[in-house]
Amino acid sequence: MKTAIIVHGGAGAWDTDSERLEQGRRACRQAAQAGQAVLLNGGSALDAVETAVRVLEDSPYLDAGRGSYLNSEGQIEMDAFIMNGRTLDLGAVGAVQLIQNPIRLARRVMIDSPHCFLVGRGAEAFAESVGIPRCTLDDLVARESMDALDIASGHPLTAVTSDTVGATALDHYGDLAAATSTGGTRRKLPGRVGDSPLVGAGGYADNRTAALSATGHGEALMKVLICKTASDFVGQGFSAQAACETAVRLLHERVKGLGGLIAVDHQGRIGFAYNTAAMPYAYAVGDQEIMSGH
Ligand code: GLY
Repeated sequence: MKTAIIVHGGAGAWDTDSERLEQGRRACRQAAQAGQAVLLNGGSALDAVETAVRVLEDSPYLDAGRGSYLNSEGQIEMDAFIMNGRTLDLGAVGAVQLIQNPIRLARRVMIDSPHCFLVGRGAEAFAESVGIPRCTLDDLVARESMDALDIASGHPLTAVTSDTVGATALDHYGDLAAATSTGGTRRKLPGRVGDSPLVGAGGYADNRTAALSATGHGEALMKVLICKTASDFVGQGFSAQAACETAVRLLHERVKGLGGLIAVDHQGRIGFAYNTAAMPYAYAVGDQEIMSGH
């Protein structure tokens, strides 16, 4: 079966001429390339989406892992989600602090715990128990320098809101997987958890339909369970592209939501849609060259 992967670097009010958006698109290309290499070497869709999301989490230009927004108390709390489309197994973490790659922890929750979703201190203790080390706040904070970059280029901070990263893939064996990771919204209340780690909202994967990852305003995205809704559209015969476009339209019609969605369907077709200023993305089908945009 021909493999496919698509990644996103967050839908939002990006300044479309900014260096930051260009850096976000570059990070997406690197992530798609890393995921494509896993798939072409016979790796699983789960390995591909985790690898791709780790690249995105490591980018200081995107709101996940390093580069996450600070909350109202100057801390970073992150959410992440991963799902296996063959078994419907999933792992998620919410409001975790001082973890370099939350997607890695979400996967360990799926594999090594009897649970699907761990939050806060419990998730951090679980990380320690499976050998995932704590990092420092300095390892994660990149926003101050990014904010300085925006100020220097004359862009008001309110105009650079963007959020979340994600990846979805189909592997050689016909299995789908989805992964999403985020630092949430700028200056959010401590304890706030958005759509990203919620199954059906921030992500979904089912071999019968599609793998999807969402981005945007979490309080809106979760109300329409955007990823499960789009998965159901694929089940009704929509292509990945038509499902993403229809779900993003519904997001706005029902709750005036702003955001975006990426998908790979069970036939390996790619889809993406957003209703914000931009959403950096990149994708690769089989061994074809990486396509990217925003
Ligand atoms: N979409 C990410 C969040 O709202 O936290």
